[in-house]
Amino acid sequence: MQKTISDILRSPNFNSKTRINGWVRTKRGSKNVSFIALNDGSTIKNLQVVAEANDFDDNLIKNITTGACLEVFGTLKKSEGKEQSLELLASELKILGEANAEEYPLQPKKHSLEFLREKAHLRFRTNTFSAVFRLRHALTFAIHEYFNKNGYVNIHTPIITGADAEGAGEMFKVSNFDFNAIPKNEGKIDYNQDFFGKQTNLTVSGQLEAELGALALGKVYTFGPTFRAENSNTSRHLSEFWMIEPETAFADLNDNMDLAEEFLKYCIKYCLDNYKDDLDFLNQRLEAEEKGLKKEERSELGLIERLSFVLDNKFERITYSEAINILRNSKPNKKKKFQYLINGFGDDLQSEHERYLVEKKFKKPVIITDYPKSIKAFYMKLNDDDNTVRAMDILFPLIGEMVGGSQREENLERLSKRMEEMHIDKNELWWYLETRKFGTCVHSGFGLGFERLMMFITGMKNIRDVIPFPRTPKNAEF
Ligand code: 4AD
Ligand code: MG
Repeated sequence: MQKTISDILRSPNFNSKTRINGWVRTKRGSKNVSFIALNDGSTIKNLQVVAEANDFDDNLIKNITTGACLEVFGTLKKSEGKEQSLELLASELKILGEANAEEYPLQPKKHSLEFLREKAHLRFRTNTFSAVFRLRHALTFAIHEYFNKNGYVNIHTPIITGADAEGAGEMFKVSNFDFNAIPKNEGKIDYNQDFFGKQTNLTVSGQLEAELGALALGKVYTFGPTFRAENSNTSRHLSEFWMIEPETAFADLNDNMDLAEEFLKYCIKYCLDNYKDDLDFLNQRLEAEEKGLKKEERSELGLIERLSFVLDNKFERITYSEAINILRNSKPNKKKKFQYLINGFGDDLQSEHERYLVEKKFKKPVIITDYPKSIKAFYMKLNDDDNTVRAMDILFPLIGEMVGGSQREENLERLSKRMEEMHIDKNELWWYLETRKFGTCVHSGFGLGFERLMMFITGMKNIRDVIPFPRTPKNAEF
């Protein structure tokens, strides 16, 4: 296989002949010599290609513009320049694909992230997005590595399902009906005639099926796409996002929290240990971006400092009731600065409250447990107080909710009762209920929003900038 720029920089073989392919980032120079910064995506670093005017046709050099794809053959030399340690002195240059400078949208200057979102087909070619997407790969790998090392079995849960796992009803329907002639029976849509013979939707979570796996394989996890039709146009919500959901038999809520904390730290450490160049770049990018902000809007810690800080500190663990007390007596609540004021038990925590707890009060990740049953899903284990459930949310600085999980209600009677109270269709979930009838046991799990963790690790402030092709309300381009 041909060497990549990353291979060459790692172990340069000076004075050897090398062939390299890549895309032009910039070209500068004089009448006599051109310096071409070439990038092949294998690293944030460019390879400097030196082309002496005498050796090449003028027209060829003229057509080497930003975005063009090149094949270069030449000799690897030590570089005199202070920007790089080596360079490739070209003896053969071939333009594989031109990029007309008048039309190519990416110029060698800083473009706004909003602009680049509209050019998502080309934004991989920028430093920022190549770093982000290499890290997305790194994180994917770290996640599988962590679970593999810890004896978890990866299971693939269905994307098309009849169940509403969260009971929140925010689902995209799946159907092959002719929308202009939907079959009806006594005025109601006749799903018997639909493709699956029943009403189906895109999954909002793989949890319910993961539980089935855990109650046989012991430790399982899913890592797949998840779909939510909630109309929230925020910097933290996607309509299509990826979720990691481990489910562990014989584990209670404390075990679940320990797992989540160890897992998150493992993933962050993996990126720091193996993708330092990209993180250094993103660190500088963030620093430059924040220079333009007012002092109070800037983050206290730089990106790398923030990641190290999470590794070095134990997550704070508090109950929902404790969180409500802190919030009720907080300055922004008393001065009515919160958009949603906290009155007492039962209030749902909004992102402003979560961020207060994490960024102002504890200044580190916080795990909140034992929420009121009224604001959580039907499957969570009811506490003896009959009022709160064994839920846990992990909140992160700058992100808010990173993880949502719980110990599951394993008692058939109590689970049935909760489903009735919450108007969850028991017939639809007959199979879920059967696991409580046959060989039930204590078990727990959680869901990690993959893109939320990506945001934290890369310092990108909009979730649309950590997934290659974001899907959000009114946006499904590419
Ligand atoms: O808190 P959620 O809704 O939990 C579940 O779906 C459970 N079934 C998980 C489980 O226990 N197995 O979602 C889990 C996480 C959230 O904490 C958040 O990080 C992320 O998924 N998430 C989103 N990320 C991006 N865009 C959205 N619209 C998201 N909704 C949730
Ligand atoms: Mg949640």
